[in-house]
Amino acid sequence: SGQSFPHHEGRRRFIGDLRAVDPRSPILSVLGWGAALGPIFESQIFRQKFVFVASAELTAELCDESRFCKALPPAIVALRHYAGDGLFTAYNDEPNWQLAHELLAPAFTKPAMRSYHPTMLGTAGELFDYWDRRGGPVDVSRDMTKLTMETLSRTAFSHDFGSFRTAQTHPFVGAMIRALQTSRRKGALLTAPGGRLVGRFLDRRNASAQAYVDGVLDELIAERAGTDDRSDLLGIMLGVAHPETGQRLSPENIRRQILTFLVAGHETTSGALSFTLYYLSRNPECLARARREADEILGTDPAAMPTFEQVAKFRYIRRALDEALRIWPTVPAFARGPRADTTLGGRYRMRPQDWAVIMLGLVHRDPAVWDNPEVYDPDRFLPANVRKRPAHSYKPFGTGARACIGRQFALHEAVLVLAALLHRYDLTADPDYDLSVDERLTMVPRGFELALTRRHHSE
Ligand code: HEM
Repeated sequence: SGQSFPHHEGRRRFIGDLRAVDPRSPILSVLGWGAALGPIFESQIFRQKFVFVASAELTAELCDESRFCKALPPAIVALRHYAGDGLFTAYNDEPNWQLAHELLAPAFTKPAMRSYHPTMLGTAGELFDYWDRRGGPVDVSRDMTKLTMETLSRTAFSHDFGSFRTAQTHPFVGAMIRALQTSRRKGALLTAPGGRLVGRFLDRRNASAQAYVDGVLDELIAERAGTDDRSDLLGIMLGVAHPETGQRLSPENIRRQILTFLVAGHETTSGALSFTLYYLSRNPECLARARREADEILGTDPAAMPTFEQVAKFRYIRRALDEALRIWPTVPAFARGPRADTTLGGRYRMRPQDWAVIMLGLVHRDPAVWDNPEVYDPDRFLPANVRKRPAHSYKPFGTGARACIGRQFALHEAVLVLAALLHRYDLTADPDYDLSVDERLTMVPRGFELALTRRHHSE
Protein backbone atom coordinates (compact mmCIF):
# COMPACT_ATOMS: atom_id res chain seq x y z
CA SER A 1 0.00 0.00 0.00
CA GLY A 2 3.01 2.28 0.43
CA GLN A 3 1.66 3.69 3.66
CA SER A 4 4.49 4.52 6.02
CA PHE A 5 2.97 7.10 8.33
CA PRO A 6 3.69 7.90 11.18
CA HIS A 7 7.09 9.28 10.48
CA HIS A 8 8.35 12.12 12.54
CA GLU A 9 11.68 13.66 13.16
CA GLY A 10 13.63 11.46 15.52
CA ARG A 11 12.24 8.19 16.83
CA ARG A 12 9.76 6.03 14.91
CA ARG A 13 7.29 4.07 16.93
CA PHE A 14 7.01 0.46 15.91
CA ILE A 15 5.80 -0.75 19.26
CA GLY A 16 2.69 -2.27 17.78
CA ASP A 17 4.66 -4.59 15.50
CA LEU A 18 5.69 -6.59 18.51
CA ARG A 19 2.13 -7.33 19.45
CA ALA A 20 -0.09 -9.93 17.90
CA VAL A 21 -3.31 -8.58 16.45
CA ASP A 22 -5.89 -11.32 16.11
CA PRO A 23 -7.11 -10.73 12.54
CA ARG A 24 -10.50 -12.15 13.49
CA SER A 25 -11.04 -9.51 16.15
CA PRO A 26 -8.54 -6.72 15.47
CA ILE A 27 -10.53 -4.09 17.34
CA LEU A 28 -10.77 -6.09 20.55
CA SER A 29 -7.05 -6.87 20.29
CA VAL A 30 -6.14 -3.19 20.04
CA LEU A 31 -8.60 -2.20 22.78
CA GLY A 32 -6.98 -4.83 24.99
CA TRP A 33 -3.68 -2.95 24.83
CA GLY A 34 -5.43 -0.03 26.44
CA ALA A 35 -3.67 3.30 26.61
CA ALA A 36 -0.29 1.64 27.17
CA LEU A 37 0.89 2.43 23.66
CA GLY A 38 0.35 6.16 23.93
CA PRO A 39 -1.74 8.64 21.95
CA ILE A 40 -0.80 7.23 18.54
CA PHE A 41 0.77 3.94 17.56
CA GLU A 42 1.45 1.77 14.61
CA SER A 43 0.64 -1.87 14.19
CA GLN A 44 0.68 -4.45 11.49
CA ILE A 45 -1.94 -7.01 10.54
CA PHE A 46 -0.22 -9.36 8.10
CA ARG A 47 1.48 -6.97 5.67
CA GLN A 48 -0.87 -4.04 6.18
CA LYS A 49 0.26 -1.26 8.48
CA PHE A 50 -2.27 0.51 10.63
CA VAL A 51 -1.93 3.74 12.54
CA PHE A 52 -4.22 3.89 15.57
CA VAL A 53 -5.14 7.03 17.46
CA ALA A 54 -6.09 6.73 21.13
CA SER A 55 -6.11 10.30 22.45
CA ALA A 56 -8.91 12.85 22.49
CA GLU A 57 -6.46 15.59 21.55
CA LEU A 58 -5.32 14.00 18.28
CA THR A 59 -8.92 12.98 17.55
CA ALA A 60 -10.02 16.60 17.84
CA GLU A 61 -7.37 17.58 15.34
CA LEU A 62 -8.39 14.80 12.93
CA CYS A 63 -12.01 15.99 13.18
CA ASP A 64 -11.02 19.37 11.71
CA GLU A 65 -12.86 19.14 8.39
CA SER A 66 -10.74 21.85 6.79
CA ARG A 67 -7.63 19.64 7.09
CA PHE A 68 -8.94 16.06 7.25
CA CYS A 69 -11.72 13.93 5.78
CA LYS A 70 -13.09 10.39 5.94
CA ALA A 71 -10.67 7.70 4.79
CA LEU A 72 -11.46 4.12 3.79
CA PRO A 73 -9.16 1.55 5.44
CA PRO A 74 -8.96 -1.95 3.88
CA ALA A 75 -11.85 -3.41 5.93
CA ILE A 76 -14.19 -0.75 4.52
CA VAL A 77 -12.78 -1.05 1.00
CA ALA A 78 -13.54 -4.79 1.23
CA LEU A 79 -17.20 -3.99 1.89
CA ARG A 80 -17.36 -2.12 -1.42
CA HIS A 81 -17.59 -5.51 -3.10
CA TYR A 82 -21.20 -5.48 -1.81
CA ALA A 83 -22.07 -1.93 -0.87
CA GLY A 84 -20.11 -0.19 -3.66
CA ASP A 85 -20.69 3.55 -3.75
CA GLY A 86 -23.48 3.34 -1.16
CA LEU A 87 -23.38 6.15 1.41
CA PHE A 88 -21.16 4.42 3.95
CA THR A 89 -18.56 2.91 1.61
CA ALA A 90 -18.40 5.68 -1.02
CA TYR A 91 -15.20 7.65 -1.53
CA ASN A 92 -15.60 11.32 -0.69
CA ASP A 93 -15.50 12.43 -4.31
CA GLU A 94 -17.84 9.80 -5.78
CA PRO A 95 -20.82 11.59 -7.38
CA ASN A 96 -23.34 9.12 -5.96
CA TRP A 97 -22.36 10.05 -2.42
CA GLN A 98 -23.36 13.69 -2.89
CA LEU A 99 -26.49 12.75 -4.80
CA ALA A 100 -27.71 10.14 -2.29
CA HIS A 101 -26.79 12.36 0.65
CA GLU A 102 -28.84 15.25 -0.73
CA LEU A 103 -31.82 13.13 -1.73
CA LEU A 104 -31.94 11.28 1.59
CA ALA A 105 -30.97 13.91 4.17
CA PRO A 106 -34.57 15.22 4.53
CA ALA A 107 -35.71 11.70 5.47
CA PHE A 108 -33.37 11.68 8.49
CA THR A 109 -34.16 14.98 10.17
CA LYS A 110 -35.67 15.11 13.64
CA PRO A 111 -39.11 16.10 12.22
CA ALA A 112 -38.96 13.16 9.81
CA MET A 113 -38.87 10.87 12.85
CA ARG A 114 -42.49 11.80 13.51
CA SER A 115 -43.55 9.76 10.49
CA TYR A 116 -41.53 6.73 11.66
CA HIS A 117 -42.71 6.95 15.25
CA PRO A 118 -45.88 4.81 14.88
CA THR A 119 -43.92 2.04 13.15
CA MET A 120 -41.24 2.15 15.84
CA LEU A 121 -43.95 1.84 18.50
CA GLY A 122 -45.67 -1.00 16.69
CA THR A 123 -42.45 -2.96 16.32
CA ALA A 124 -41.53 -2.49 19.99
CA GLY A 125 -45.06 -3.62 20.91
CA GLU A 126 -44.59 -6.80 18.87
CA LEU A 127 -41.31 -7.51 20.63
CA PHE A 128 -42.99 -7.13 24.03
CA ASP A 129 -45.84 -9.44 22.98
CA TYR A 130 -43.29 -11.96 21.75
CA TRP A 131 -41.50 -11.87 25.12
CA ASP A 132 -44.78 -12.20 27.02
CA ARG A 133 -45.76 -15.23 24.92
CA ARG A 134 -42.41 -16.98 25.20
CA GLY A 135 -41.56 -16.32 28.85
CA GLY A 136 -38.14 -17.22 30.22
CA PRO A 137 -34.94 -15.21 30.04
CA VAL A 138 -34.31 -13.03 27.02
CA ASP A 139 -31.17 -13.17 24.87
CA VAL A 140 -30.80 -9.40 24.75
CA SER A 141 -28.49 -8.97 21.75
CA ARG A 142 -30.44 -11.44 19.63
CA ASP A 143 -33.84 -9.93 20.35
CA MET A 144 -32.69 -6.32 20.10
CA THR A 145 -31.24 -7.21 16.70
CA LYS A 146 -34.60 -8.60 15.61
CA LEU A 147 -36.25 -5.41 16.80
CA THR A 148 -33.93 -2.96 15.06
CA MET A 149 -33.92 -5.03 11.87
CA GLU A 150 -37.73 -5.00 11.76
CA THR A 151 -37.94 -1.29 12.55
CA LEU A 152 -35.50 -0.45 9.82
CA SER A 153 -36.97 -2.71 7.15
CA ARG A 154 -40.50 -1.49 7.92
CA THR A 155 -39.74 2.22 8.10
CA ALA A 156 -37.26 2.25 5.25
CA PHE A 157 -38.74 -0.26 2.81
CA SER A 158 -42.18 -1.12 4.19
CA HIS A 159 -41.05 -4.72 4.43
CA ASP A 160 -41.90 -7.08 7.28
CA PHE A 161 -39.41 -9.91 7.89
CA GLY A 162 -41.70 -11.53 10.46
CA SER A 163 -38.88 -11.72 13.00
CA PHE A 164 -41.19 -12.12 15.98
CA ARG A 165 -43.08 -15.05 14.56
CA THR A 166 -40.11 -17.38 15.06
CA ALA A 167 -37.18 -17.74 17.46
CA GLN A 168 -34.77 -18.06 14.53
CA THR A 169 -33.07 -15.22 12.73
CA HIS A 170 -34.66 -14.61 9.33
CA PRO A 171 -32.60 -16.38 6.61
CA PHE A 172 -32.19 -13.08 4.74
CA VAL A 173 -30.69 -11.40 7.78
CA GLY A 174 -28.39 -14.37 8.42
CA ALA A 175 -27.21 -14.43 4.80
CA MET A 176 -26.63 -10.68 4.75
CA ILE A 177 -24.54 -10.69 7.92
CA ARG A 178 -22.57 -13.73 6.76
CA ALA A 179 -21.82 -12.18 3.38
CA LEU A 180 -20.58 -8.94 4.92
CA GLN A 181 -18.68 -10.65 7.68
CA THR A 182 -16.86 -12.82 5.15
CA SER A 183 -16.10 -9.78 3.10
CA ARG A 184 -14.59 -8.00 6.07
CA ARG A 185 -12.56 -11.06 6.99
CA LYS A 186 -11.32 -11.18 3.43
CA GLY A 187 -10.26 -7.56 3.74
CA ALA A 188 -8.16 -8.47 6.76
CA LEU A 189 -6.64 -11.45 4.94
CA LEU A 190 -5.77 -9.81 1.65
CA THR A 191 -2.22 -8.98 2.66
CA ALA A 192 -1.61 -12.34 4.36
CA PRO A 193 0.54 -14.94 2.61
CA GLY A 194 -1.83 -16.74 0.24
CA GLY A 195 -4.50 -14.21 1.16
CA ARG A 196 -5.77 -13.68 -2.36
CA LEU A 197 -6.38 -17.39 -2.80
CA VAL A 198 -8.20 -17.59 0.50
CA GLY A 199 -10.16 -14.51 -0.56
CA ARG A 200 -11.31 -16.18 -3.78
CA PHE A 201 -12.27 -19.27 -1.83
CA LEU A 202 -14.32 -17.16 0.61
CA ASP A 203 -15.95 -15.34 -2.30
CA ARG A 204 -17.01 -18.63 -3.90
CA ARG A 205 -18.32 -19.99 -0.64
CA ASN A 206 -20.17 -16.75 -0.21
CA ALA A 207 -21.48 -16.28 -3.71
CA SER A 208 -24.79 -18.03 -3.11
CA ALA A 209 -25.51 -16.08 0.08
CA GLN A 210 -24.79 -12.85 -1.75
CA ALA A 211 -26.89 -13.84 -4.77
CA TYR A 212 -29.79 -14.60 -2.42
CA VAL A 213 -29.45 -11.24 -0.64
CA ASP A 214 -29.21 -9.32 -3.94
CA GLY A 215 -32.17 -11.25 -5.32
CA VAL A 216 -34.43 -10.39 -2.37
CA LEU A 217 -33.45 -6.72 -2.57
CA ASP A 218 -33.83 -6.50 -6.36
CA GLU A 219 -37.30 -8.00 -6.06
CA LEU A 220 -38.19 -5.46 -3.38
CA ILE A 221 -37.05 -2.65 -5.66
CA ALA A 222 -38.77 -4.05 -8.78
CA GLU A 223 -42.09 -4.42 -6.91
CA ARG A 224 -42.05 -0.74 -6.08
CA ALA A 225 -40.64 0.70 -9.31
CA GLY A 226 -43.24 2.72 -11.18
CA THR A 227 -45.40 3.36 -8.10
CA ASP A 228 -45.23 6.83 -6.65
CA ASP A 229 -45.28 6.17 -2.95
CA ARG A 230 -42.74 8.36 -1.17
CA SER A 231 -43.61 7.37 2.38
CA ASP A 232 -40.39 5.47 3.00
CA LEU A 233 -36.70 5.62 2.03
CA LEU A 234 -37.16 3.28 -0.90
CA GLY A 235 -39.97 5.43 -2.25
CA ILE A 236 -37.81 8.53 -1.94
CA MET A 237 -34.91 6.85 -3.72
CA LEU A 238 -37.15 5.66 -6.56
CA GLY A 239 -39.27 8.76 -6.86
CA VAL A 240 -37.16 11.81 -6.14
CA ALA A 241 -34.87 13.49 -8.65
CA HIS A 242 -32.29 16.11 -7.77
CA PRO A 243 -34.03 19.51 -7.90
CA GLU A 244 -31.32 21.15 -10.01
CA THR A 245 -29.77 18.40 -12.10
CA GLY A 246 -32.74 16.04 -12.34
CA GLN A 247 -30.39 13.17 -11.53
CA ARG A 248 -31.71 9.98 -9.95
CA LEU A 249 -30.18 6.95 -8.27
CA SER A 250 -29.88 3.85 -10.46
CA PRO A 251 -31.60 0.60 -9.36
CA GLU A 252 -28.18 -0.91 -8.63
CA ASN A 253 -27.21 2.05 -6.47
CA ILE A 254 -30.56 1.85 -4.68
CA ARG A 255 -29.84 -1.81 -3.88
CA ARG A 256 -26.49 -0.77 -2.43
CA GLN A 257 -28.11 1.94 -0.32
CA ILE A 258 -30.68 -0.53 1.02
CA LEU A 259 -27.96 -2.97 1.97
CA THR A 260 -26.08 -0.07 3.55
CA PHE A 261 -29.05 1.05 5.65
CA LEU A 262 -29.84 -2.48 6.76
CA VAL A 263 -26.26 -3.10 7.79
CA ALA A 264 -25.33 0.34 9.16
CA GLY A 265 -28.62 0.78 10.91
CA HIS A 266 -29.59 -2.36 12.75
CA GLU A 267 -26.71 -4.02 14.56
CA THR A 268 -25.36 -0.63 15.66
CA THR A 269 -28.61 0.40 17.34
CA SER A 270 -29.20 -3.07 18.71
CA GLY A 271 -25.75 -3.08 20.33
CA ALA A 272 -26.39 0.36 21.84
CA LEU A 273 -29.64 -0.91 23.38
CA SER A 274 -27.99 -4.08 24.67
CA PHE A 275 -25.03 -2.29 26.27
CA THR A 276 -27.37 0.23 27.91
CA LEU A 277 -29.49 -2.55 29.37
CA TYR A 278 -26.35 -4.32 30.53
CA TYR A 279 -25.05 -1.25 32.39
CA LEU A 280 -28.46 -0.41 33.86
CA SER A 281 -28.86 -3.97 35.12
CA ARG A 282 -25.46 -3.67 36.81
CA ASN A 283 -26.05 -0.24 38.34
CA PRO A 284 -29.21 -0.36 40.48
CA GLU A 285 -29.18 3.37 41.23
CA CYS A 286 -29.02 4.25 37.56
CA LEU A 287 -31.74 1.72 36.83
CA ALA A 288 -33.96 3.21 39.53
CA ARG A 289 -33.52 6.73 38.15
CA ALA A 290 -34.25 5.61 34.61
CA ARG A 291 -37.33 3.72 35.78
CA ARG A 292 -38.53 6.69 37.81
CA GLU A 293 -38.23 8.92 34.77
CA ALA A 294 -40.15 6.46 32.61
CA ASP A 295 -42.90 6.25 35.24
CA GLU A 296 -43.12 10.01 35.68
CA ILE A 297 -43.57 10.60 31.98
CA LEU A 298 -45.62 7.56 31.02
CA GLY A 299 -47.92 7.44 34.05
CA THR A 300 -49.45 4.53 35.94
CA ASP A 301 -50.28 2.09 33.14
CA PRO A 302 -47.19 -0.15 32.70
CA ALA A 303 -48.29 -0.91 29.13
CA ALA A 304 -48.29 2.78 28.12
CA MET A 305 -46.10 3.64 25.14
CA PRO A 306 -44.43 7.05 24.58
CA THR A 307 -45.85 9.62 22.20
CA PHE A 308 -43.54 11.32 19.70
CA GLU A 309 -43.28 14.42 21.91
CA GLN A 310 -42.55 12.38 25.03
CA VAL A 311 -39.47 10.71 23.53
CA ALA A 312 -37.47 13.95 23.76
CA LYS A 313 -38.33 14.23 27.47
CA PHE A 314 -36.51 11.11 28.65
CA ARG A 315 -33.36 13.04 29.51
CA TYR A 316 -31.92 10.54 31.96
CA ILE A 317 -32.58 7.55 29.70
CA ARG A 318 -30.88 9.42 26.88
CA ARG A 319 -27.85 10.02 29.12
CA ALA A 320 -27.81 6.33 30.06
CA LEU A 321 -27.63 5.52 26.34
CA ASP A 322 -24.94 8.15 25.64
CA GLU A 323 -22.85 6.76 28.47
CA ALA A 324 -23.16 3.15 27.20
CA LEU A 325 -21.98 4.37 23.77
CA ARG A 326 -19.06 6.07 25.46
CA ILE A 327 -17.74 2.90 27.04
CA TRP A 328 -18.78 0.62 24.17
CA PRO A 329 -19.14 2.60 20.96
CA THR A 330 -20.83 0.01 18.74
CA VAL A 331 -19.09 1.41 15.67
CA PRO A 332 -15.69 1.03 17.29
CA ALA A 333 -13.58 3.16 14.97
CA PHE A 334 -13.51 5.41 11.96
CA ALA A 335 -10.65 6.56 9.79
CA ARG A 336 -9.43 10.00 8.74
CA GLY A 337 -6.89 11.16 6.21
CA PRO A 338 -5.44 14.59 5.38
CA ARG A 339 -6.71 16.65 2.45
CA ALA A 340 -3.12 17.79 1.73
CA ASP A 341 0.32 17.21 3.24
CA THR A 342 0.15 18.17 6.88
CA THR A 343 1.59 17.47 10.32
CA LEU A 344 -0.54 15.83 13.00
CA GLY A 345 0.05 16.70 16.64
CA GLY A 346 2.91 18.95 15.61
CA ARG A 347 5.15 15.98 14.75
CA TYR A 348 3.62 13.27 12.56
CA ARG A 349 3.86 14.04 8.87
CA MET A 350 0.85 12.84 6.87
CA ARG A 351 0.35 12.76 3.12
CA PRO A 352 -3.06 12.44 1.45
CA GLN A 353 -2.64 8.67 0.98
CA ASP A 354 -2.03 8.16 4.72
CA TRP A 355 -4.82 7.53 7.19
CA ALA A 356 -5.29 7.02 10.88
CA VAL A 357 -7.89 4.90 12.64
CA ILE A 358 -9.58 6.67 15.55
CA MET A 359 -10.14 4.01 18.21
CA LEU A 360 -13.28 5.29 19.88
CA GLY A 361 -13.09 2.78 22.73
CA LEU A 362 -9.74 4.30 23.74
CA VAL A 363 -10.57 7.93 22.95
CA HIS A 364 -13.77 7.71 25.01
CA ARG A 365 -11.69 6.52 27.97
CA ASP A 366 -8.83 8.98 27.59
CA PRO A 367 -7.95 9.90 31.19
CA ALA A 368 -7.02 13.42 30.04
CA VAL A 369 -10.75 14.00 29.47
CA TRP A 370 -12.68 11.45 31.55
CA ASP A 371 -12.37 10.86 35.31
CA ASN A 372 -12.57 7.17 36.25
CA PRO A 373 -13.23 6.27 32.63
CA GLU A 374 -14.21 2.66 33.42
CA VAL A 375 -17.07 3.76 35.67
CA TYR A 376 -20.57 3.91 34.16
CA ASP A 377 -22.04 7.31 35.05
CA PRO A 378 -24.80 8.78 32.85
CA ASP A 379 -24.45 12.17 34.58
CA ARG A 380 -21.29 12.75 32.60
CA PHE A 381 -23.78 13.81 29.93
CA LEU A 382 -25.53 16.46 31.98
CA PRO A 383 -25.33 19.60 29.80
CA ALA A 384 -23.08 21.39 32.32
CA ASN A 385 -20.59 18.51 32.20
CA VAL A 386 -20.70 18.25 28.42
CA ARG A 387 -19.87 21.94 28.14
CA LYS A 388 -16.76 21.47 30.26
CA ARG A 389 -15.26 18.87 27.94
CA PRO A 390 -13.12 19.68 24.92
CA ALA A 391 -14.82 19.55 21.51
CA HIS A 392 -14.77 16.19 19.70
CA SER A 393 -14.02 14.14 22.81
CA TYR A 394 -17.15 12.02 22.25
CA LYS A 395 -17.73 10.82 18.67
CA PRO A 396 -19.86 7.63 18.56
CA PHE A 397 -21.57 8.83 15.37
CA GLY A 398 -18.43 9.94 13.54
CA THR A 399 -17.80 13.47 12.36
CA GLY A 400 -18.28 16.06 9.65
CA ALA A 401 -19.88 15.55 6.28
CA ARG A 402 -19.56 11.76 6.54
CA ALA A 403 -20.99 11.49 10.04
CA CYS A 404 -23.88 9.09 10.65
CA ILE A 405 -26.98 10.05 8.69
CA GLY A 406 -29.06 7.74 10.91
CA ARG A 407 -28.17 9.32 14.26
CA GLN A 408 -31.61 10.79 14.99
CA PHE A 409 -33.23 7.58 13.85
CA ALA A 410 -31.12 5.46 16.19
CA LEU A 411 -31.55 7.79 19.17
CA HIS A 412 -35.30 8.13 18.73
CA GLU A 413 -35.79 4.39 18.45
CA ALA A 414 -33.43 3.47 21.29
CA VAL A 415 -34.84 5.98 23.80
CA LEU A 416 -38.40 5.00 22.94
CA VAL A 417 -37.68 1.29 23.40
CA LEU A 418 -35.73 1.75 26.65
CA ALA A 419 -38.42 3.93 28.20
CA ALA A 420 -41.24 1.57 27.25
CA LEU A 421 -39.27 -1.48 28.38
CA LEU A 422 -38.32 -0.04 31.79
CA HIS A 423 -41.90 1.03 32.33
CA ARG A 424 -43.32 -2.35 31.48
CA TYR A 425 -40.88 -4.83 33.06
CA ASP A 426 -38.77 -5.52 36.10
CA LEU A 427 -35.38 -6.67 34.89
CA THR A 428 -32.96 -9.05 36.54
CA ALA A 429 -29.58 -10.01 35.13
CA ASP A 430 -27.65 -13.17 35.94
CA PRO A 431 -25.25 -11.91 38.64
CA ASP A 432 -22.57 -14.33 37.39
CA TYR A 433 -22.56 -12.94 33.86
CA ASP A 434 -19.28 -11.24 32.91
CA LEU A 435 -19.55 -8.87 29.99
CA SER A 436 -18.13 -10.48 26.91
CA VAL A 437 -18.17 -8.66 23.60
CA ASP A 438 -18.52 -10.07 20.11
CA GLU A 439 -16.64 -8.31 17.34
CA ARG A 440 -18.96 -8.72 14.38
CA LEU A 441 -19.46 -5.91 11.89
CA THR A 442 -20.04 -3.91 15.05
CA MET A 443 -19.57 -4.60 18.75
CA VAL A 444 -22.36 -6.44 20.63
CA PRO A 445 -22.57 -8.10 24.06
CA ARG A 446 -22.40 -11.88 23.78
CA GLY A 447 -24.59 -14.20 25.83
CA PHE A 448 -26.17 -11.41 27.88
CA GLU A 449 -29.55 -12.51 29.22
CA LEU A 450 -32.20 -10.68 31.20
CA ALA A 451 -35.19 -12.07 33.07
CA LEU A 452 -38.14 -9.76 32.44
CA THR A 453 -41.28 -9.79 34.56
CA ARG A 454 -44.35 -7.73 33.83
CA ARG A 455 -45.06 -4.94 36.28
CA HIS A 456 -48.67 -4.55 37.32
CA HIS A 457 -48.76 -1.18 39.00
CA SER A 458 -46.17 1.50 38.91
CA GLU A 459 -45.19 2.54 42.39
C1 HEM B 1 -22.12 6.45 9.26
C2 HEM B 1 -22.32 5.12 13.92
C3 HEM B 1 -27.07 4.07 13.43
C4 HEM B 1 -26.69 4.82 8.67
C5 HEM B 1 -21.78 6.22 10.57
C6 HEM B 1 -20.49 6.53 11.17
C7 HEM B 1 -20.55 6.14 12.46
C8 HEM B 1 -21.87 5.60 12.71
C9 HEM B 1 -19.42 6.24 13.49
C10 HEM B 1 -19.29 7.16 10.45
C11 HEM B 1 -18.39 6.12 9.86
C12 HEM B 1 -17.12 6.66 9.19
O1 HEM B 1 -16.73 7.81 9.41
O2 HEM B 1 -16.49 5.89 8.45
C13 HEM B 1 -23.63 4.70 14.17
C14 HEM B 1 -24.11 4.28 15.47
C15 HEM B 1 -25.44 3.99 15.34
C16 HEM B 1 -25.79 4.22 13.95
C17 HEM B 1 -23.25 4.17 16.74
C18 HEM B 1 -26.44 3.52 16.36
C19 HEM B 1 -26.32 3.64 17.66
C20 HEM B 1 -27.39 4.22 12.09
C21 HEM B 1 -28.74 4.07 11.54
C22 HEM B 1 -28.60 4.25 10.19
C23 HEM B 1 -27.21 4.57 9.90
C24 HEM B 1 -29.97 3.74 12.33
C25 HEM B 1 -29.67 4.22 9.10
C26 HEM B 1 -30.94 4.22 9.30
C27 HEM B 1 -25.42 5.31 8.42
C28 HEM B 1 -24.94 5.69 7.09
C29 HEM B 1 -23.63 6.17 7.27
C30 HEM B 1 -23.34 6.07 8.70
C31 HEM B 1 -25.72 5.59 5.80
C32 HEM B 1 -22.71 6.73 6.19
C33 HEM B 1 -22.96 8.21 6.08
C34 HEM B 1 -22.12 8.88 4.99
O3 HEM B 1 -20.93 8.60 4.88
O4 HEM B 1 -22.71 9.68 4.27
N1 HEM B 1 -22.61 5.67 11.55
N2 HEM B 1 -24.66 4.65 13.29
N3 HEM B 1 -26.51 4.55 11.09
N4 HEM B 1 -24.44 5.56 9.36
FE1 HEM B 1 -24.59 5.21 11.34
